Amino acid sequence: MSELRFDGRVVVVTGAGGGLGKVYAQFFASRGASVVVNDLGGSRTGDGAGNHKAADIVVNEIIAAGGKAVANFDSVEDGDKIVATAIKAFGRVDIVINNAGILRDKSFSRMTDEDWDLIQRVHLRGSYKVAKAAWEHFQKQGYGRIINTSSAAGIYGNFGQANYSAAKLALHGFTQTLAREGAKKNIHCNSIAPIAASRMTETVFPPELLAHLNPSFIVPVVAYLCHESCAENGSLFELGAGFVSKLRWERSKGVVFKADASFTPGSVSKQISKIGDFSSDAQHPASIAEVDWVGLLEEAKTLKSNVAGPDLRFDGRVVV
Ligand code: NAI
Repeated sequence: MSELRFDGRVVVVTGAGGGLGKVYAQFFASRGASVVVNDLGGSRTGDGAGNHKAADIVVNEIIAAGGKAVANFDSVEDGDKIVATAIKAFGRVDIVINNAGILRDKSFSRMTDEDWDLIQRVHLRGSYKVAKAAWEHFQKQGYGRIINTSSAAGIYGNFGQANYSAAKLALHGFTQTLAREGAKKNIHCNSIAPIAASRMTETVFPPELLAHLNPSFIVPVVAYLCHESCAENGSLFELGAGFVSKLRWERSKGVVFKADASFTPGSVSKQISKIGDFSSDAQHPASIAEVDWVGLLEEAKTLKSNVAGPDLRFDGRVVV
């Protein structure tokens, strides 16, 4: 079977001192790519920095195995410096794996501004900064691949992760727009929501589950998505332990209300089950343009009035 190779490609992997990033870096190097192994070397919660050992070890291992790699110890918040390392060492950048991450899990009532801001800065702003710095190179060369690392916590929500889930789903929004803006220049951007054993999850999952969650099971999908032969763009994959699936949006057929005084909270209440009915004629829109507003307006014109429901009142409530 022919191998997908990355000879001549330059890959930036953020947070590659351990966990998923490390196995990505090792794999790309083993398939011919030159790799920037970025890792700030902080703790799981983003405290401290400057432990260069993790990235250095990965670089040394890659070089010992005959591969090409350099270390970079900047925070992803300085994404331009990370991309500059790629340009300086290898003269180009082709692939960005936005992987670096930390956790500040707390119930929302206990979450501080710092817990919120730090998570947004590392995950969302960090991914933006690295992608932004690589973008001009991608455009000039008519080639680029970006992976943004989302999470099931972002897709579905998870107790204690308001900060993290907000950043992680935002990353997929970011992916979807970069996919559109990059398509013409052969710049593809996809998101993954992985599940894997790492220092991030070692206290979250039970040992018997962790044993099946080798990070190497995430690598084939990431590598495929970054290959020049791959046309996938703007997609979101949920994967782990050998399971790989793709997610998409689903929109119910919905209800058309007559836009007049009879369109009240009570009429919405009356139709709420129908609004949320996915059992027939649900759609899977793939673009912002996929609402037939003209058709819906025509349909609304034919309605006599809305189905009245209970008169909902808000006496005694204070609204901000
Ligand atoms: P990990 O903790 O083993 O690796 C993350 C790496 O990012 C660490 O080596 C850390 O030093 C580095 N890092 C943290 N802040 C940085 C910064 N500002 N600049 C540069 N490097 C920084 O965790 P893991 O599990 O490998 O996570 C990788 C990515 O996958 C993260 O984005 C995480 O949120 C995501 N993810 C992981 C899941 C899992 O099951 N392991 C589940 C869902 C998402």
